[in-house]
Amino acid sequence: MLSHKPIRVLFVCLGNICRSPSAEIIFKHLVIRQNLTSQIISDSAGIIDYHRGSSPDARMLAALKKYGYTDPGLKARAVTSRDLAEFDYIVPMDYQNLRDLSDLDSRGEYTEKFLPMCNFTESFTDTEVPDPYYGGTEGFNHVVELLEETCSNFLEFIKTQHSLS
Ligand code: 4NP
Repeated sequence: MLSHKPIRVLFVCLGNICRSPSAEIIFKHLVIRQNLTSQIISDSAGIIDYHRGSSPDARMLAALKKYGYTDPGLKARAVTSRDLAEFDYIVPMDYQNLRDLSDLDSRGEYTEKFLPMCNFTESFTDTEVPDPYYGGTEGFNHVVELLEETCSNFLEFIKTQHSLS
């Protein structure tokens, strides 16, 4: 049987302490549940390096816990130009993240890898995953609910693209 290289997915937000680690946690949960861990690898990173080494925001972890998700011990890091080459799909949470990724991709080599998270929503009106950092509890809950749908649809998209079942 042919062995294929795993598909690599990187979720990106501004700080890598709220939205993109949540996307990673929720997406990994789906990948584990569907027995796809040897085929799909995921990670997350931030545009800024300010929170390097930090755990996800405690308010984000509290919201995730309410929906049944636990943090496997993620630590924040910044996205690098090497990530652009190494990951197959790079998923920004908002349009500013997308612009910042495009700036990092100075020669425009990786544009096709950039797939905004909200491309994968059906029932929400959001066009971006809203930054919950300066808001209240509801914003964090909303991020989890939106990511549950977008991560699930994104995984189905990958399975279709790569004929995984
Ligand atoms: P995130 O949220 O991009 O979803 O991780 C933020 C975290 C930190 C900051 C902004 C947004 N900050 O300005 O430090």
